[in-house]
Amino acid sequence: MGTLATSCSTLGYAMASATIAAATAAESWVGRGDERSAEQASVAAMFAALNGIDFAGQVVVGEADGDTLNVGAAVGTGSGLELDVALEALEGTTLTAKAMPNALAVIAAAPRGGLLQAPDLYMEKLAIGPGYEAGIVDLDADAGENAIRLARAKGVDVREITACVLDRPRHEKIINDLRKAGARINLIPDGDVAGAINTAMPETGIDMYVGQGKAPEGVLAAAALRCVGGQMQARFVFRNEAEKLQAQRGGLKDAGRRYNLDDLVSGDVIFAATGVTKGTLLDGAVRRRGAIETHTMLMSSADGVVRTIRSVSPLRI
Ligand code: FBP
Repeated sequence: MGTLATSCSTLGYAMASATIAAATAAESWVGRGDERSAEQASVAAMFAALNGIDFAGQVVVGEADGDTLNVGAAVGTGSGLELDVALEALEGTTLTAKAMPNALAVIAAAPRGGLLQAPDLYMEKLAIGPGYEAGIVDLDADAGENAIRLARAKGVDVREITACVLDRPRHEKIINDLRKAGARINLIPDGDVAGAINTAMPETGIDMYVGQGKAPEGVLAAAALRCVGGQMQARFVFRNEAEKLQAQRGGLKDAGRRYNLDDLVSGDVIFAATGVTKGTLLDGAVRRRGAIETHTMLMSSADGVVRTIRSVSPLRI
C-alpha cells in the first residue's frame, strides 16, 4: 500500500472528480433561489463520486445536516489508503442560490488524524500566503497592526495591503482597525474558504484574510494553505455555554487555545476545489452546447504544486 504522497496523482485526480461532480450538480441550481436543493444535489453527487474511489475514507469535517456526508460517514470503496476527509460539497449555498461569485465544491484528504475534527462552530481566523517568516502576523494583534506588519514584510506601504473580510456586523472593529491603518478591504458576502485561499494566490490581489467564520471552512482553507506554504492561526469562538459544551463533546480538550496551521492540518494532505460560480480562484461551472465545463484546482502538500484542471463533460440530462 502506498502513502498519500506517492498516491497523490491518482488519488488527487480522483478527489478532483468528486468536486467536479458536486459542482456540476450544483450548477443546475445556480441563481434559482433554492439553497436546499443546490446543497442536496451537490452532496448526492459528491457522495456517489467518492464511493467509486478506492480508499477507506472517513468524513471528519462534513455536512452539518445532510444524511450521507455527515461527520463519521464512511466514504470510498473501503479498499486502499485509510484517509480522513474534510468536505463541503457546496461551500456558499447562498452564493449559489443568488448566482454570486466564489461558490465552490471542496475536499481535503489526509492520513488518519491529519485533519482537526472541527465541530460546526465559529472560529476567529487569520491567514496569509506563503513566503513570510513564521509569526509575522498575530491573531491577538489588531487587524490594522497585522496589515502594517505584513506591509513591512512585503516592503510596501500599508495602503497597498488588501485584507479580505466577511461582511458581517461582528467584524465592525476589524474593519475600523484596518481602515484606520490605511489598508484596503475586500468585503465578501460569504465564502471564507475562498477568502482565505485568496491570500496564497497573488493574482487575487488579497494579502490577508481576517475574521470569524465557520470552523469546518477553517480546516478546509488550512489544508489548501498547507499545500502551498501559507500561514493560518485560528481560535474557536463560543457564543454561549451550549457551544462550549458542543466543543467538549466533540473531543476538543483545550478548545479556547490558539490553533496554528499545523494544529488544523498535519502530515500529507491533498486539496481539491471546483468552481460552482465564477470567483477569484476559479471560473464557475458553465453549460455549453450539450456539455458542462468546470475548473478545478488540485494541490498536494507533497510537492506544493497547484494543478488546474479544465474538464468538459457531456451532459446526460
Ligand atoms: P454556506 O455555504 O452555508 O452558505 O456558508 C458559507 C459561509 O459564508 C462560510 O464560508 C463561512 O465560514 C460562514 O458561512 C459564515 O457564517 P455566517 O454566515 O453565519 O456568518
